[in-house]
Amino acid sequence: MTVTLKVWRQAGPAAPGRLETYTANNVHPDMSFLEMLDVVNEDLIKAGQDPIAFDSDCREGICGSCGLVINGIPHGPDRGATTCQVHMRRFKNGDTITVEPFRARAFPVLKDLIVDRGALDRIIAAGGYVSMNVGGAPDGNSIPISKEVADLAMDNAQCIGCGACVAVCKNAAAHLFTSAKITHLGLLPQGEPERYRRAARMIEQMDAEGFGACSNEGECEAVCPKEISIRSIARMNRDYFKAAVAK
Ligand code: SF4
Ligand code: FES
Repeated sequence: MTVTLKVWRQAGPAAPGRLETYTANNVHPDMSFLEMLDVVNEDLIKAGQDPIAFDSDCREGICGSCGLVINGIPHGPDRGATTCQVHMRRFKNGDTITVEPFRARAFPVLKDLIVDRGALDRIIAAGGYVSMNVGGAPDGNSIPISKEVADLAMDNAQCIGCGACVAVCKNAAAHLFTSAKITHLGLLPQGEPERYRRAARMIEQMDAEGFGACSNEGECEAVCPKEISIRSIARMNRDYFKAAVAK
């Protein structure tokens, strides 16, 4: 396959950006999208040009570092998949593909396709600690947890902090991310003692970072590679309300 790429190039946070056009030749349909970019970069390096800067680490959908907007969709055309899980067979020979960074005020562009998602880390840090008994590991069955609760907590624990929910949202809201973190800790008995304090602190940090308000568009759920449900946002709002009443 041969595809034409229109890639966002930006030398640094304060530099102006622009879309540059590249041709990717000899693309195998079974290449991942990132492998295709690797090949383009090898050609750029051979030609003495600056390679396209983009983030990746695990390349198997678990670390959350590879966020690209492909043809206007964070993580591209596949549902429930990260950018590194998109394959070139999803495109046709001769296609033109636009590749941009995740765009949000709270995610400043560092270079080309790399953005600083440290704001999400600071939301997690604002949640503080989870009460934990010290000593030997407790017996696995000493704290009974219903399957329904355990499943819901694990569903939310799948959030990999990629930021696609922010990038797709017209308000650049981080509600799906924050609610996933609040839900997975707040549902389990270990996280119960700090549950409402944690919700209030994380939401206050989310607002301080410059993320927008949620207007229930639902696009976050549609692009989330871990298919986190927007029902978590309603649960987070209830916890925040209880925290505000208890103040
Ligand atoms: S909620 Fe989904 S889209 Fe948002 S950061 Fe977590 S995994 Fe990524
Ligand atoms: S590189 Fe880790 S999720 Fe894509």
